[in-house]
Amino acid sequence: MKKQILLLLFCVVLLNACFVNRNLVSYEFPDAMSDEVRAAYTEQCDKGKVLFEINCSKCHYIKKGRRTLIPDFDQSELIGYEMRVMNPQHESEVREARVNAEELGLIMTFLTYKRKNATD
Ligand code: HEC
Repeated sequence: MKKQILLLLFCVVLLNACFVNRNLVSYEFPDAMSDEVRAAYTEQCDKGKVLFEINCSKCHYIKKGRRTLIPDFDQSELIGYEMRVMNPQHESEVREARVNAEELGLIMTFLTYKRKNATD
């Protein structure tokens, strides 16, 4: 009986560690970035993530099995102004009146620093 309780406790701790870890590592910042700057960027990324979900996710989610992933765009794809006007879909859906420059900047920051999807 005691063993089972210990095992259960172990599982709870393990599960908890997984979830806590996942939350902490959702962004990848350069090692040289100071804690202060990191905190500011984390805040921007959190806002960008919400804005992405509202404005972009209906077209930009990848379904992989039961998981839903946000694509890894590379730096050349993430040029805010070009991204807005170079694509006919975006001209109507990502126009200034809908996503302003500041919001687009937050989304770019989020997409730049979000942890890359595992390749498996
Ligand atoms: C109505 C659907 C739609 C919405 C909404 C949308 N996109 Fe797109 N987006 C597309 C399509 C279609 C492409 C071109 C094909 C592709 O690369 O997936 C594209 C391409 C891109 C690319 C790649 C650019 C390139 O040069 O290939 C980026 C980055 C991007 N979108 C970001 C965003 C962001 C950020 C938002 C939200 C602010 C957004 N998109 C909203 C449909 C959409």
